[in-house]
Amino acid sequence: MSIEQALTDEERLAQLDLEQLRQLVGLVEYDGSADPFPVSGWDALVWIVGNAVQTAHFFQSAFGMELVAYSGPETGNRDHHAFVLRSGAARFVVTGAYDPASRLADHHRAHGDGIADIALTVPDVDRCITHARAQGATVLTEPHDVADEHGTVRLATIAAYGDTVHTLVDRSRYTGPYLPGYVARTSTLQRRPGAPRRLFQAVDHVVGNVELGAMDAWVDFYNRVMGFTNMAEFIGDDIATDYSALMSKVVANGNHRVKFPLNEPAAGKKKSQIDEYLEFYGGPGAQHVALATNDIVGTVDAMRAEGVEFLATPDSYYSDPQLRARIGEVRVPIGELRSRGILVDRDEDGYLLQIFTKPTGDRPTVFFELIERHGSLGFGKGNFKALFEAIEREQERRGNF
Ligand SMILES: [Fe+2]
Repeated sequence: MSIEQALTDEERLAQLDLEQLRQLVGLVEYDGSADPFPVSGWDALVWIVGNAVQTAHFFQSAFGMELVAYSGPETGNRDHHAFVLRSGAARFVVTGAYDPASRLADHHRAHGDGIADIALTVPDVDRCITHARAQGATVLTEPHDVADEHGTVRLATIAAYGDTVHTLVDRSRYTGPYLPGYVARTSTLQRRPGAPRRLFQAVDHVVGNVELGAMDAWVDFYNRVMGFTNMAEFIGDDIATDYSALMSKVVANGNHRVKFPLNEPAAGKKKSQIDEYLEFYGGPGAQHVALATNDIVGTVDAMRAEGVEFLATPDSYYSDPQLRARIGEVRVPIGELRSRGILVDRDEDGYLLQIFTKPTGDRPTVFFELIERHGSLGFGKGNFKALFEAIEREQERRGNF
């Protein structure tokens, strides 16, 4: 599959050019003809939250997303509200129970706000399911068509870590706003004058937190079942502070559109941030979503103006004489990064700028990363220690450290 083919129609409509996308998310060329489970990219991140009406508003007002479709009691959905939001190639679907008997209410009671479904676009749902089943995956929903006047979508769902699932979506024969059952909908929310057109262009990666000792089994799952390859590996000292540690491995699909770092806790003197997540999420789940932006400074300023809170970076991070030696020349002056708490990392391929939000729900679980890549295909390994120390200060303030 060439990089050109990796661009979906929706991305073309979002006026994302290929070079921009290649840079933004670190796309690579790959030959998909021999791939037993070809994945084109992200279809949607489907959230289950306690108040979809207000979370959808938050993603519009604070994250600059655009409401494009809706399902709810007015459209005949007596179970839940669902709002479909876009920013460039990224799609979030925010759902919340309307009927107290909804299974969404059970999910929310167990996990709090979280990502229930990391849905992926695939060219051939049946081929993927045949392979996944042969490799021992749990098929939760068999391949089936759903149709309306806009065409037909083919879907199937497999189980992933915890209660997280992957719905496989082929919407190549569909022109509607999201899925059958949804109607097109826009919002009356007004952008502030001078606000950037969009604050991020694509999803870069979604991190999964799994139980102690389970990381390698999930790496194996993505290798074997979904044909993902290992990208990088961080173990031990790289991401350990004096008090907590984690192990992390990264798997990616063929063209690197979809990247899944997988974390498990490692022994430390105190409870690690992964342990805290597992306790409050009630098991494994999606920990953070990295959003690709081509202007991290503008995005941070716009989000902060809307009240989004970011992790503070210790001032010593910027005054460290080794920082300049480590990062070399970057697009943004260090003073600009320092005033916003933006982190920098460099590897043999280039550099990246990144920053992390505080958890955005009631539980100390899911949060976001903003990432601006300049050639680097990494995940900010050099920043892990600086970041973890910042996270631990927040954990301590919550009394969970
Ligand atoms: Fe990340």
